[in-house]
Order: sequence, then C-alpha cells, then structure tokens
Amino acid sequence: MSDAKPTILVTGGAGYIGSHAVLALQQAGYNVVVLDNLVYGHRELVENVLKVELVIGDTNDRVLLDKLFDTHDIAAVMHFAAYAYVGESVTNPAKYYRNNVTGTLTLLESMLEAGINKFVFSSTCATYGVPKTVPIPEDHPQDPINPYGMSKLMVERILADFNLAYDFKSVCFRYFNAAGADPEGRLGEDHNPETHLIPLVLQTALGLRDSVSIFGTDYPTPDGSCVRDYIHVTDLASAHVLGAEYLLKGGESQAFNLGNGNGFSVKEVIEAARTITGREIKAIECDRRPGDPPALVGSSDKARSVLGWQSQYADLTQIMTHAWNWHQQRHGQ
Ligand SMILES: NC(=O)c1ccc[n+]([C@@H]2O[C@H](COP(=O)([O-])OP(=O)(O)OC[C@H]3O[C@@H](n4cnc5c(N)ncnc54)[C@H](O)[C@@H]3O)[C@@H](O)[C@H]2O)c1
Repeated sequence: MSDAKPTILVTGGAGYIGSHAVLALQQAGYNVVVLDNLVYGHRELVENVLKVELVIGDTNDRVLLDKLFDTHDIAAVMHFAAYAYVGESVTNPAKYYRNNVTGTLTLLESMLEAGINKFVFSSTCATYGVPKTVPIPEDHPQDPINPYGMSKLMVERILADFNLAYDFKSVCFRYFNAAGADPEGRLGEDHNPETHLIPLVLQTALGLRDSVSIFGTDYPTPDGSCVRDYIHVTDLASAHVLGAEYLLKGGESQAFNLGNGNGFSVKEVIEAARTITGREIKAIECDRRPGDPPALVGSSDKARSVLGWQSQYADLTQIMTHAWNWHQQRHGQ
C-alpha cells in the first residue's frame, strides 16, 4: 500500500490565509490543488512560490467544479474563497450572499455529486455579533450584525443540514483576527484594498500611508480603543491541516474558535509597531465606526483539546515582527 497522502482542494488558495494553508499542507506531505478566481488572489504566489496546480475559476461555476472533481482525486476541500470586506457587505449585500453563500452551495452540491464529504470552512468570529461574554466560547449565541457575518453563518447552517441529510462532515473554523506572515518570509498579507489594522499600521511606518485611524477612543476598554484577538496566520494554517486530518480519520462535524485568548487594543498595536519598526507612525483619533464591538477575544480551548492544536506564535511582538519583515521585503524597504 502506498504511503502517499491524499489530495486536498484549497479554494481561495491564492489569497492570504489560503496560501499559508497550502504551504502547511505541502509541508505535511499533502498534494494540493488550488481553485481561485484571482479577483483578490495572487497568481505568482501559487505558480512561483508554492508551485502547485492552479485552476483559475469561480465557485459559482458548476460546470468547472464538476470537471475539476472528475479529473482530480480530491479527498477533502478547504474553503477559503469568499469576499470579506464588512463595510462593502453592508452597502452591497447581494454581492456577499451571491459569492459567499451561493458560491459555497454550488461547491457543496458539486462535492456531493462527486461523493466527497469532507469540508474545512473559513468561518469567522463575526458570526457572534456583539459578544455577551468574553472570551467567547463556541456555544455563544451567533447573531451577526452585518451581511458578511450573516453569509458565513448561513453556510454554517447549510453545513449542519448537510450533515443530517447527507452525512456530510465539516469543520468550521471561526477565526479571530488573522495576522502575521510566514516566518521564513515566503508569503504574507497583501490585500488590496487593505482594511486590517496591522498591515495598515506597517504601511504607515513604511511611508505608504500618511496616518492610521483609531476608530473610537471611548469604548469600555482599558485605554478606550477596541480590543481584538490576533492569531498568527501560520497557526491558522496548522489548525487547518489538523482539521482536515480529523475529518479524514472519520471525525464528526464540529465548529472551533481560532484565537489566542489575549486581547490587544488598537492603541497597543500601534505602540508595538512603533517599537518594532523604530519609525514614527502618525495615529489620528476618530469617531467610532458603526458595528465595531468593543472587544472580540476568543477561547480556543476546544481546538486544543479536540484537535491537539497549539499556537506556535502567540506573542503579539512575534506576529507583528513577521508581518513587518514581509512588508519591508514586499515594498523593497
Ligand atoms: N483575514 C481575516 O482576518 C479573516 C478573519 C475571519 C475569516 N476570514 C475568512 O478567511 C477566508 C480567507 O480570507 P483572506 O484574508 O485570506 O482573504 P483573501 O481575499 O486574501 O483570500 C480569498 C481568496 O478567495 C478568492 N475568491 C473569492 N471569491 C471567490 C470565488 N467565488 N471563487 C474562487 N475564488 C474566490 C480571492 O481571489 C482570494 O484569493 C475568507 O473566507 C474570509 O472570510 C478571514
């Protein structure tokens, strides 16, 4: 019998978190195929850095999906492909439900047809809405406050129903704030437009932006700015490998938070960036943005106990140093 590990399809593998997951899968010995429509993804990362097969296409394209599953022996799917701009989801919800819900449903139906029933899904802490308890456990009520979070919750519900009806097994990972970059500098965060705090702060340090905004300084938090839980993208990636292996070994459907259980305020992140970069970072205090909960911090005890997951890079300075190394290299400074 051959020891070769099976093939995993990674949708959105040309994006930030998906590309790190592809690297982690390769390092664990899996064969990987990437499906990405390249709306936000980076072709050169898949073809030149990761060097895996890239199928350029959309999760809404049923014909393409059926052909992909017909021509590849796929054992499980990791599904990162989605739109993830919260503000845009409020002004253009149709775009989010079409891509994140209908696209996922099309993918799931094609998987069913092909007899594949193992699925690792990128969900989000945004499905919890405004938390009633912090750190947030997985059984906290899910009550999203924007269409982006709702689109992810809808998929979680579809997956629960698929489990009952079709014995379709899934792992839903509800991430807190993904941050950092591959410690060896091969991959990093390159969203365009960028809305995440750490890259915005580092781009300001590089002089690519004049300033960074602090939205709200009167929250009920120690320094008045919002508190978030940052998780290293390489730790997210390793959790995905464990999630896929759990399903491949016959595990039941489960949802897991992925965070570090530590909250850092916007002001603390900016201060840390000043120390790490040794550069000036101008910060402007602004009004609160609608829909920003004061604190989002997750408990990942379940991922530790069920999957045996451990974060390797829980320290904020380490997370930001890896991101800084990547940004300097990316922008040639
Ligand atoms: N970045 C975070 O902090 C965070 C937090 C929680 C959840 N998530 C979720 O994680 C996933 C990955 O996030 P990311 O930050 O890597 O985003 P990203 O935009 O870098 O990656 C998403 C990739 O999916 C592709 N894509 C989008 N729609 C597609 C479609 N219909 N068909 C094929 N390809 C498609 C894009 O081109 C892109 O390469 C998303 O599902 C996001 O909702 C991210």
